[in-house]
Amino acid sequence: MKMIKIKKIGKVKGECIAPPDKSISQRAVMISALSNAEVRVDNFLDCDDCRRAISAFRSMGIKIILKRNGAQGATLFVRGKGLKGLKKAKKDIYIGNSGTTMRLITGILAAQDFRSVLSADPSLSVRPMKRITEPLRAMGALIKARKKAKEEYPPLIINGRNLKSISYRMPVTSAQVKSCILLAGLFSRGTTRVKEQIKTRDHTERMLMLFKASISVCGLTVSIKQSKELVSPKKMFVPGDISSAAFFIIAATLLSGSRLKVKKVGLNPTRIYLLKILKRMGANIEILKNGANLKAFEPYADIQVFGAPLKSTTIKEDEVAYCIDELPILCVAACFAKGKTKIIGAGELRVKETDRIYSMVNNLRKMGADIENLGNDLMINGTGRLCGAEVESFGDHRTAMSMVIAGLMASGQTTVKNTSCINKSFPEFMETLKNIAELT
Ligand code: S3P
Repeated sequence: MKMIKIKKIGKVKGECIAPPDKSISQRAVMISALSNAEVRVDNFLDCDDCRRAISAFRSMGIKIILKRNGAQGATLFVRGKGLKGLKKAKKDIYIGNSGTTMRLITGILAAQDFRSVLSADPSLSVRPMKRITEPLRAMGALIKARKKAKEEYPPLIINGRNLKSISYRMPVTSAQVKSCILLAGLFSRGTTRVKEQIKTRDHTERMLMLFKASISVCGLTVSIKQSKELVSPKKMFVPGDISSAAFFIIAATLLSGSRLKVKKVGLNPTRIYLLKILKRMGANIEILKNGANLKAFEPYADIQVFGAPLKSTTIKEDEVAYCIDELPILCVAACFAKGKTKIIGAGELRVKETDRIYSMVNNLRKMGADIENLGNDLMINGTGRLCGAEVESFGDHRTAMSMVIAGLMASGQTTVKNTSCINKSFPEFMETLKNIAELT
C-alpha cells in the first residue's frame, strides 16, 4: 500500500489546472451512451471511478474510446445507441468503489428488458442502497440486494422491466438518489417528480437538458417525462472539479504568502458553497473574468487565491449538502481558523467511502488538533497548530488528500498510509502539488 511522507512547506505559488469534474464525467458516460449519436466529451476525468462507468457501458455493447492527453483532461468518444440500445452484459458488472456509478446505473438498468448483476468492492459493498431500491420498487422495479439489519447493500440483482412514474419526496439529501430516480423516469410512463428537502448538485438535470430531455425544475421539484430520445449535443466540455480544487484552494489560503491560480474550476451554483464558506472565514479568493465561461451548461472560471488568516464559522445542516465532499478538507482549514468552527448535521459523511467523521476526528487528533464529535456534529477549536504524525486514509480518497494538505502545515513529518485510493478521483494530485509547492 502506497504511503506518502509530507513535510511542512512555506507556501504554494503559480498555477494549476483543476482536474475534470468526477460527477459530470460519470454522467457524461451514462447519458451519452443513451443518446442518439456520437458524443465527444472534452476534458474528461480519467480516474478509477470514471473507468468503472466506462467499462460498465462497454460491457453492455456501447463503443467508447478514451484518449489520454498527457496531464490534461482526456477526450472521450461515446457512440450513443439510443434509449433502447443497451444489451445484456455477458457477466456481472463490477462497479468497484464508485457509489455514483452504482446508484445512477441502477436507475437505468431497472428499466431495461434484461437482467443485470452489479457487484462492488468491499467498501462500496457496505454502503446503503435502500435509498435507491425503495423508490425504484415504487416505480415497479424488481431488484434484489444483500440485506442486513433492515438496510440493503450490493451486490444488486436487477430484473429490468417497464416502469411507471412516481412522485417522490426524498427522505435523504442525496444527488445520487435524485439522479437515479430521474434516469429511471426517462424510461417510465408518465411524468416522474422528485421533491428534495434541500437542493443537491444538479448535474443530472443540466446534462439531461443539454440532451433535450423533457425535464423541468420548479423550486425543489424536478419533473421528467418519458423520453423518446436523447439528442446528442455532439460535443461537451467538463469543467474542473471544485471538490478536487478545494485541496489547493485551502492550502493556498492557509499558507501565508501564497498566491495560486486554479484554472477552469466548475462553478455550478450547487457546488460553490466551499468558496462562500471560506470567504466568510476571511479567505482571499477572486473569480477571474478572463477565460470564464459562466454561460456554459456547467459554468466555470479561473480562480485566484491568496494566503489569508481565517476565523471560525458555523456550517449549518442546510449548507452541508452544498459542500459535502469538501467537509474533510474544511476540517483541516478549521484547525487554523481562530475560534470554534462548528459543522452541524453532517450525518451523510458517515456513509461515504469511509465514515468521514470518524476518519477526520481520529486523524486530526493524532496530529494534536482540538476536535470533538457529538452525534453528527463536529466542533473544531482552531489552535493554529498541527504536529506531524502517522495517519490513515481509511481507503478514502478525500481523507487521504485532506491529510496530505494537513501535513504541509504541520511541524515535523506526516505519513499518510494507504494512499492508492487517491486514484479514485485525482490521480495527478501529488504531481500537481509538487509543481506548486515552495519550501520557503
Ligand atoms: C455525488 C453526490 C454526492 C457526493 C458524491 C458524488 C454525485 O453523494 O458525495 O461524491 O455525483 O451525485 P450523495 O448523493 O450520496 O450525497
